[in-house]
Amino acid sequence: MGTASPRDEPAFASATSLAEEFRRRHGAEPESIWFSPGRVNTMGAHLDYNGGPVMPCAIDRGTLVALRRRADGRATIASTSFEGELSFEVRAPPPRGGRWSDYPLGVLHALLARLRSEGRGPSGVDLLYGGDLPIGAGLSSSASICVGTARALSEAFELESSDLQIVEAALLAERGFVGVRCGIMDPYAVAMARPGALLWLDCKDASWTSVPLDLESVSIAVLDTHVRRELAQVAFNERVQQCSAAFEVLRTLQPAATCLRDIERATLERARALLEPPLASRAAHVVEEVARTFEARDALLAGDVAGFGARMTAAHASLRANFEVSVRELDLLVECATSVPGVHGARLTGAGFGGCVVALLARGAEQELREACGAAFSGLHGWRPSIEVYRPGGGPRRLAR
Ligand code: GLA
Repeated sequence: MGTASPRDEPAFASATSLAEEFRRRHGAEPESIWFSPGRVNTMGAHLDYNGGPVMPCAIDRGTLVALRRRADGRATIASTSFEGELSFEVRAPPPRGGRWSDYPLGVLHALLARLRSEGRGPSGVDLLYGGDLPIGAGLSSSASICVGTARALSEAFELESSDLQIVEAALLAERGFVGVRCGIMDPYAVAMARPGALLWLDCKDASWTSVPLDLESVSIAVLDTHVRRELAQVAFNERVQQCSAAFEVLRTLQPAATCLRDIERATLERARALLEPPLASRAAHVVEEVARTFEARDALLAGDVAGFGARMTAAHASLRANFEVSVRELDLLVECATSVPGVHGARLTGAGFGGCVVALLARGAEQELREACGAAFSGLHGWRPSIEVYRPGGGPRRLAR
């Protein structure tokens, strides 16, 4: 975690306006402003909650958190993107409300409990959020908020948290407080990010390492369909449940297996007749995607970017046919992107059901990608997708002021 210079930070322009907004609301300067990235996932789709490997990457777009401690035992949470302000006594039960603010509230609640357990009475804090990360696009705005909040509060209240404790606080907020059945990938992707690298995270034992990307020769583009599905969370929870149901059947044929990631192809073949067709398809995606993700990592380490990209595109085909989490707008962008010369591969990122496609391409191919995909998509759907090129950025950091 470093302190970045303002000139290097794409988020700095909006940090300046966030500081102004903070002064307007609270009549005082924020004590600090933090940047916390969003993420894309390149390989290992829907593997985190099945114990498999994933290869996400933080991007240079994210959440900004401005904060100032208070001495009166009150806290406020507000955002430049949403109306209203949550204002409450920190000693009272947390005012959970089924809103975006439940995410930072969950983190604050966990850290206040830690402060109390260390015998330090809670004071209060004003938190104001901003930034440039689209919400609900599959770029993990929730992990970006939770990890950024945990890091910012941890420093403000001198909790000296390790990266792992930050991940745990974020997971506790999302799973325990908000009640989302999310996997571990997103908070790790945000908290452990290193500039210019993908994260290799093995979700079976949570071991991780960085895999460098040659940024002289490749770019990462994110193509946003602007399709947002209201029922995405329900469908995501259904996939989690189906994978767990498939594993319960498969483990009877391979008793040493501890999660779906351990299931061998031969076991799956033997079990096909025992599984309902949708469960067999979900398990087939997981088993194949585990193999593909190892192959993709080996290709990247050997300098074979095209081989890595081919696995991304194959992952998308399986997400569409076997896991059934794609939509036609995503399929069109993948098809169109992969037909552009210089594009190594493309797939949906995040849970699916709308949101974004991530593409890996040779530097110099960005303009053609924008033109080809923009024209084909708007010709068919009537609106233009947003197409942005990102740098793999670092994890949460305090912005210099
Ligand atoms: C969502 C979840 C992640 C992961 C992805 C699919 O983004 O939050 O934990 O399961 O879907 O790979």
